[in-house]
Amino acid sequence: MSRPPEPWHLVKQSPLHGTGVFARRDIPAGTRIIEYRGKRITPEQADALHPVNPDDPFHTFFFSLSNGKVIDGGQNGNDARWINHSCAPNCETQESPQGSRVFVFALRDIPAGDELFYDYGLVMDGRITKTLRKQYGCLCGSAACRGTMLALPKEKPGKNEDKKEKKEKKNKKDGKAKKKDEKEKREGKRKKAKS
Ligand SMILES: C[S@@+](CC[C@H](N)C(=O)[O-])C[C@H]1O[C@@H](n2cnc3c(N)ncnc32)[C@H](O)[C@@H]1O
Ligand SMILES: [Zn+2]
Repeated sequence: MSRPPEPWHLVKQSPLHGTGVFARRDIPAGTRIIEYRGKRITPEQADALHPVNPDDPFHTFFFSLSNGKVIDGGQNGNDARWINHSCAPNCETQESPQGSRVFVFALRDIPAGDELFYDYGLVMDGRITKTLRKQYGCLCGSAACRGTMLALPKEKPGKNEDKKEKKEKKNKKDGKAKKKDEKEKREGKRKKAKS
Protein backbone atom coordinates (compact mmCIF):
# COMPACT_ATOMS: atom_id res chain seq x y z
CA MET A 1 0.00 0.00 0.00
CA SER A 2 1.41 3.43 -0.92
CA ARG A 3 1.84 5.93 1.89
CA PRO A 4 0.24 9.40 1.57
CA PRO A 5 2.81 11.96 0.41
CA GLU A 6 4.69 13.80 3.14
CA PRO A 7 3.38 17.37 3.50
CA TRP A 8 5.56 20.10 2.07
CA HIS A 9 4.87 22.38 4.98
CA LEU A 10 4.78 22.71 8.76
CA VAL A 11 3.01 25.19 11.02
CA LYS A 12 4.76 27.20 13.74
CA GLN A 13 5.07 30.66 15.27
CA SER A 14 5.96 33.28 12.65
CA PRO A 15 8.38 36.18 13.25
CA LEU A 16 6.08 38.26 11.03
CA HIS A 17 2.64 37.62 12.52
CA GLY A 18 1.11 35.02 14.85
CA THR A 19 1.16 31.54 13.39
CA GLY A 20 2.79 30.94 10.01
CA VAL A 21 3.49 28.13 7.56
CA PHE A 22 7.02 27.05 6.64
CA ALA A 23 8.73 24.78 4.13
CA ARG A 24 9.27 21.38 5.82
CA ARG A 25 11.84 20.51 3.10
CA ASP A 26 13.16 22.07 -0.08
CA ILE A 27 10.18 22.88 -2.31
CA PRO A 28 10.83 23.05 -6.08
CA ALA A 29 9.30 25.94 -8.07
CA GLY A 30 5.84 25.09 -9.39
CA THR A 31 5.00 22.60 -6.62
CA ARG A 32 1.37 22.46 -5.55
CA ILE A 33 1.92 22.79 -1.79
CA ILE A 34 -1.51 22.75 -0.20
CA GLU A 35 -5.20 23.44 -0.83
CA TYR A 36 -6.90 26.37 0.93
CA ARG A 37 -9.78 24.52 2.61
CA GLY A 38 -12.77 25.80 4.51
CA LYS A 39 -16.51 26.17 4.50
CA ARG A 40 -18.09 27.81 1.43
CA ILE A 41 -20.19 30.80 2.46
CA THR A 42 -21.74 33.79 0.70
CA PRO A 43 -20.18 37.29 0.95
CA GLU A 44 -23.25 38.32 3.01
CA GLN A 45 -22.62 35.49 5.48
CA ALA A 46 -18.95 36.52 5.63
CA ASP A 47 -19.92 40.13 6.41
CA ALA A 48 -22.29 38.95 9.14
CA LEU A 49 -19.68 36.83 10.93
CA HIS A 50 -18.06 38.30 14.03
CA PRO A 51 -14.30 38.94 13.90
CA VAL A 52 -12.22 35.89 14.86
CA ASN A 53 -10.27 38.10 17.26
CA PRO A 54 -12.11 41.17 18.64
CA ASP A 55 -8.69 42.72 19.46
CA ASP A 56 -7.79 42.48 15.77
CA PRO A 57 -11.08 43.09 13.95
CA PHE A 58 -9.41 43.18 10.52
CA HIS A 59 -7.96 39.71 10.90
CA THR A 60 -9.36 37.52 8.13
CA PHE A 61 -9.55 33.85 7.19
CA PHE A 62 -11.72 34.60 4.15
CA PHE A 63 -10.70 33.80 0.62
CA SER A 64 -12.89 35.12 -2.21
CA LEU A 65 -13.57 32.87 -5.18
CA SER A 66 -14.32 34.14 -8.66
CA ASN A 67 -17.62 32.20 -8.56
CA GLY A 68 -18.80 34.73 -5.95
CA LYS A 69 -18.48 32.38 -2.96
CA VAL A 70 -16.08 32.87 -0.05
CA ILE A 71 -13.96 30.15 1.56
CA ASP A 72 -13.99 30.61 5.33
CA GLY A 73 -10.73 29.04 6.53
CA GLY A 74 -11.97 29.63 10.09
CA GLN A 75 -14.59 26.87 9.63
CA ASN A 76 -13.40 23.39 8.61
CA GLY A 77 -10.15 25.03 7.47
CA ASN A 78 -6.72 23.40 7.16
CA ASP A 79 -3.12 24.58 7.71
CA ALA A 80 -3.30 26.86 4.64
CA ARG A 81 -5.30 29.36 6.69
CA TRP A 82 -2.11 30.20 8.62
CA ILE A 83 -0.13 31.33 5.57
CA ASN A 84 0.82 34.98 5.98
CA HIS A 85 0.84 37.70 3.35
CA SER A 86 3.89 39.24 1.71
CA CYS A 87 4.14 41.89 -1.03
CA ALA A 88 7.15 39.91 -2.37
CA PRO A 89 5.80 36.37 -1.96
CA ASN A 90 7.37 32.99 -2.68
CA CYS A 91 3.98 31.39 -3.38
CA GLU A 92 0.83 32.19 -5.29
CA THR A 93 -2.73 30.93 -5.16
CA GLN A 94 -4.50 29.46 -8.16
CA GLU A 95 -8.13 28.54 -8.58
CA SER A 96 -9.11 25.17 -10.00
CA PRO A 97 -10.48 25.38 -13.58
CA GLN A 98 -14.04 25.18 -12.16
CA GLY A 99 -13.24 28.11 -9.85
CA SER A 100 -14.45 26.23 -6.79
CA ARG A 101 -11.12 25.31 -5.13
CA VAL A 102 -7.89 27.15 -4.39
CA PHE A 103 -4.36 25.76 -4.24
CA VAL A 104 -1.09 27.31 -3.10
CA PHE A 105 1.85 26.90 -5.51
CA ALA A 106 5.58 27.67 -5.09
CA LEU A 107 6.59 30.60 -7.30
CA ARG A 108 10.26 29.62 -7.06
CA ASP A 109 12.51 27.09 -5.34
CA ILE A 110 11.90 27.51 -1.61
CA PRO A 111 14.58 26.25 0.79
CA ALA A 112 13.55 24.17 3.81
CA GLY A 113 12.74 26.40 6.79
CA ASP A 114 11.63 29.46 4.80
CA GLU A 115 8.24 30.91 5.67
CA LEU A 116 5.62 30.58 2.93
CA PHE A 117 3.78 33.68 1.77
CA TYR A 118 1.35 34.66 -0.92
CA ASP A 119 0.05 38.09 -1.80
CA TYR A 120 -3.46 38.36 -0.29
CA GLY A 121 -4.37 41.21 -2.66
CA LEU A 122 -7.50 41.83 -0.58
CA VAL A 123 -10.30 43.35 -2.61
CA MET A 124 -12.69 45.80 -0.95
CA ASP A 125 -15.93 47.36 -2.11
CA GLY A 126 -15.72 51.10 -2.60
CA ARG A 127 -12.84 53.53 -2.37
CA ILE A 128 -9.58 52.47 -0.79
CA THR A 129 -9.03 55.13 1.82
CA LYS A 130 -5.87 55.79 3.83
CA THR A 131 -7.67 54.46 6.92
CA LEU A 132 -8.57 51.22 5.14
CA ARG A 133 -4.97 50.78 3.96
CA LYS A 134 -3.82 51.23 7.55
CA GLN A 135 -6.41 48.84 8.96
CA TYR A 136 -5.06 46.19 6.60
CA GLY A 137 -1.45 47.34 7.08
CA CYS A 138 1.35 45.04 5.95
CA LEU A 139 4.33 44.11 8.09
CA CYS A 140 6.17 42.07 5.43
CA GLY A 141 9.13 44.48 5.39
CA SER A 142 10.09 43.58 1.81
CA ALA A 143 11.65 46.23 -0.42
CA ALA A 144 8.50 45.98 -2.56
CA CYS A 145 6.13 46.39 0.41
CA ARG A 146 3.12 48.50 -0.58
CA GLY A 147 2.24 49.02 3.10
CA THR A 148 -1.07 47.21 2.89
CA MET A 149 -2.49 43.74 2.27
CA LEU A 150 -5.14 45.33 0.03
CA ALA A 151 -4.91 45.07 -3.73
CA LEU A 152 -4.19 48.56 -5.03
CA PRO A 153 -5.28 49.79 -8.45
CA LYS A 154 -2.43 49.88 -10.96
CA GLU A 155 -0.98 53.38 -11.50
CA LYS A 156 -1.83 54.60 -14.97
CA PRO A 157 1.11 55.82 -17.07
CA GLY A 158 1.41 59.58 -16.90
CA LYS A 159 -0.56 59.61 -13.65
CA ASN A 160 1.99 61.90 -12.01
CA GLU A 161 1.41 64.42 -14.79
CA ASP A 162 -2.34 64.11 -14.16
CA LYS A 163 -1.66 64.75 -10.48
CA LYS A 164 0.42 67.84 -11.33
CA GLU A 165 -2.31 69.15 -13.59
CA LYS A 166 -4.97 68.50 -10.93
CA LYS A 167 -2.82 70.31 -8.32
CA GLU A 168 -2.36 73.33 -10.59
CA LYS A 169 -6.13 73.43 -11.22
CA LYS A 170 -6.79 73.13 -7.47
CA ASN A 171 -4.37 75.96 -6.67
CA LYS A 172 -6.12 78.13 -9.23
CA LYS A 173 -9.53 77.21 -7.77
CA ASP A 174 -8.28 77.81 -4.19
CA GLY A 175 -7.03 81.22 -5.25
CA LYS A 176 -10.46 82.05 -6.70
CA ALA A 177 -12.23 80.64 -3.61
CA LYS A 178 -10.01 82.75 -1.35
CA LYS A 179 -10.85 85.88 -3.29
CA LYS A 180 -14.59 85.00 -3.19
CA ASP A 181 -14.30 84.33 0.55
CA GLU A 182 -12.72 87.69 1.16
CA LYS A 183 -15.42 89.36 -0.94
CA GLU A 184 -18.20 87.57 0.98
CA LYS A 185 -16.57 88.48 4.28
CA ARG A 186 -16.58 92.08 3.24
CA GLU A 187 -20.24 91.86 2.25
CA GLY A 188 -21.23 89.94 5.43
CA LYS A 189 -22.62 87.04 3.39
CA ARG A 190 -20.88 84.13 5.10
CA LYS A 191 -23.10 81.21 5.91
CA LYS A 192 -23.27 80.16 9.51
CA ALA A 193 -22.72 76.54 10.48
CA LYS A 194 -25.88 74.93 11.86
CA SER A 195 -25.73 74.50 15.61
C1 LIG B 1 -5.20 33.98 7.40
S1 LIG B 1 -4.47 34.74 8.77
C2 LIG B 1 -2.80 34.23 8.69
C3 LIG B 1 -2.32 33.63 9.98
C4 LIG B 1 -2.01 34.61 11.06
N1 LIG B 1 -0.57 34.79 11.18
C5 LIG B 1 -2.58 34.18 12.37
O1 LIG B 1 -1.84 33.83 13.31
O2 LIG B 1 -3.81 34.17 12.51
C6 LIG B 1 -4.50 36.35 8.11
C7 LIG B 1 -4.23 37.45 9.09
O3 LIG B 1 -2.88 37.43 9.53
C8 LIG B 1 -2.38 38.76 9.62
N2 LIG B 1 -1.29 38.94 8.64
C9 LIG B 1 -0.90 38.06 7.70
N3 LIG B 1 0.11 38.56 6.97
C10 LIG B 1 0.38 39.79 7.45
C11 LIG B 1 1.30 40.82 7.08
N4 LIG B 1 2.17 40.69 6.10
N5 LIG B 1 1.25 41.97 7.79
C12 LIG B 1 0.37 42.14 8.80
N6 LIG B 1 -0.52 41.20 9.20
C13 LIG B 1 -0.52 40.03 8.53
C14 LIG B 1 -3.55 39.69 9.34
O4 LIG B 1 -4.21 39.97 10.56
C15 LIG B 1 -4.43 38.82 8.47
O5 LIG B 1 -5.78 39.21 8.49
ZN1 LIG C 1 4.17 44.22 2.46
